[in-house]
Amino acid sequence: MFMIQRELPNDPSSISYFLGCISQSKSVAIDVHLEDIDWFIDQAKQKGVEISHVIDTHIHADHYSGGKELAKQTGAQYLLHESSSAKFDFVALKDQQSIHIGNVELKILHTPGHTLDSICLLGTDHTRGPNPWFLLSQHTLFVGSVGRPDLRGKEVEMAAKLYDSIHNKLLTLDEYIEILPGAKAGSACGVGISGKPMSTIGFEKHNNPVFKLSKQDFISQVTENLPPYPAKMDEILAANSDD
Ligand SMILES: [Fe+2]
Repeated sequence: MFMIQRELPNDPSSISYFLGCISQSKSVAIDVHLEDIDWFIDQAKQKGVEISHVIDTHIHADHYSGGKELAKQTGAQYLLHESSSAKFDFVALKDQQSIHIGNVELKILHTPGHTLDSICLLGTDHTRGPNPWFLLSQHTLFVGSVGRPDLRGKEVEMAAKLYDSIHNKLLTLDEYIEILPGAKAGSACGVGISGKPMSTIGFEKHNNPVFKLSKQDFISQVTENLPPYPAKMDEILAANSDD
């Protein structure tokens, strides 16, 4: 398999991923920014692979998504969690479902909390072995922090869901699983994100300050002292979910 972690210069808010299988000529683009569509098309050409799947891990509030347009231009499937509020046609992903991109398998973990439709992707490279080894945790779990739960209102209810998603679905994974997050320090989608660029389930279990808290303290901590909403949030949410 190949994997490229893609960050736009001067934009800490969202890290995209391009990964796939060269031997079977398939690839998946994840959390693509609108201004980055040509970059993904160019990378696919250079690697000699088709872009077969495009995924947004939630409807983003902090950047314009290029996912739908990239899928249209390449003929790829555009996938979102089945609970997404998108008003256009997409392929609906279910919790625990796996998708196969050649030899790469991504298992969908529905992890509501940052948003209701948030998913994480648990990855296996079957050319290396049968067990998963990486988690694209996007805006659910950051290194040293978690996604903010307040962007669509009902923050206390959402923070409780986030606690359950993390404790029931993520921290139960094997400790050696590598975490590849969807934002770095400075993003408007999380507070207190570490400068460490990647992590493991085990490292976060032992060192992420919010995982030592009771559910009630977790809810208080992640709903208090939140930074301002991302710039142009309402406009961006509408653009990312309207037809
Ligand atoms: Fe987000």
